[in-house]
Amino acid sequence: MDKQDYFHQPVLLQEVMGLINPQPGEIFIDATLGGAGYSQAILRKIGKKGRLVSIDLDSDAVESARRLAQQNQNWNIVQENFRNIDKIAEKHKLNQIHGIVADIGFSSYELDQSGRGLSFQKDEPLDMRFDQSQPEDARFLLTSRSEAELEKIFREYGEEKFSRQIARRIKASQADGLKLHKTGQLYELIQAALPKPVKHKAADSARRVFQALRIAVNHELENLQDFLPKAFDILSAGGRLAVVSFHSLEDRIVKEFFNQLAKGCICPPDFPQCVCGKSPLLKILTKKPVTASEAELAANSRSRPAKLRAALKL
Ligand SMILES: C[S@@+](CC[C@H](N)C(=O)[O-])C[C@H]1O[C@@H](n2cnc3c(N)ncnc32)[C@H](O)[C@@H]1O
Repeated sequence: MDKQDYFHQPVLLQEVMGLINPQPGEIFIDATLGGAGYSQAILRKIGKKGRLVSIDLDSDAVESARRLAQQNQNWNIVQENFRNIDKIAEKHKLNQIHGIVADIGFSSYELDQSGRGLSFQKDEPLDMRFDQSQPEDARFLLTSRSEAELEKIFREYGEEKFSRQIARRIKASQADGLKLHKTGQLYELIQAALPKPVKHKAADSARRVFQALRIAVNHELENLQDFLPKAFDILSAGGRLAVVSFHSLEDRIVKEFFNQLAKGCICPPDFPQCVCGKSPLLKILTKKPVTASEAELAANSRSRPAKLRAALKL
């Protein structure tokens, strides 16, 4: 690719910036650089005296942003997994951190231009890795996992009703000698697995199965689960953490993490008074998740599933 073509339309940008509220001279981490939309907005606010470290697993995103960063001495771009945010902060000697933002999932570039098979609408290799140096891609997963394991992935991460039929069809075709390498082959297997009355809805099932595979290939839920407590730990008191997610399972992880730390007291509800003495560790800034406005939805339909939650460390 031409690295200058790395494109992503940032989602909920104004809302994120309003909640993390970067000030001149402050120190921030953008855990998911992507097309650098959030990073550049943060840089404009923190100015030359501030510092920003931006992280992405995707070498295409990193290379593209490094070109932009040539002029910015105060912007470090790191190819890493955000689940290692504690080590990254230590390595870059970030002693104080005023804000961390994560906009999880994939970029438009990864979906539309990368050729990695994230969409069933193009016939591409079944890759799906954000990190091209990771050994296990979607093809490996589809070959190495059992029927029961594939069914579980499709059901849990994709909420696909016909998970069992699809997993069975995949494994039966492989047993008959099919080398499953391309997205087009997978789409055909999904379509063939569906009962006749719902065959015309194959695109909906394919969207859910592709999403499930992508989540499994990239260990997306595990990464988020590891990231949240580490991000919270390294934030300074008064620092802000904002997370944009695109999947109900991810949003639930963020919500439960925030709720637990905001609760403070862990005494059973029938105790007449608190004996645990625990106090809240964070303040939730978004009672309900923030979603895209009508104007943003009209301009960018991909913003529809986005949910933004933010909290302030006490
Ligand atoms: C939705 S995009 C971010 C877009 C960005 N906010 C912008 O304004 O352009 C998500 C990015 O996160 C990256 N990513 C996904 N999981 C990651 C992980 N565990 N560690 C680091 N980056 C990750 C993807 O490669 C992708 O570039």
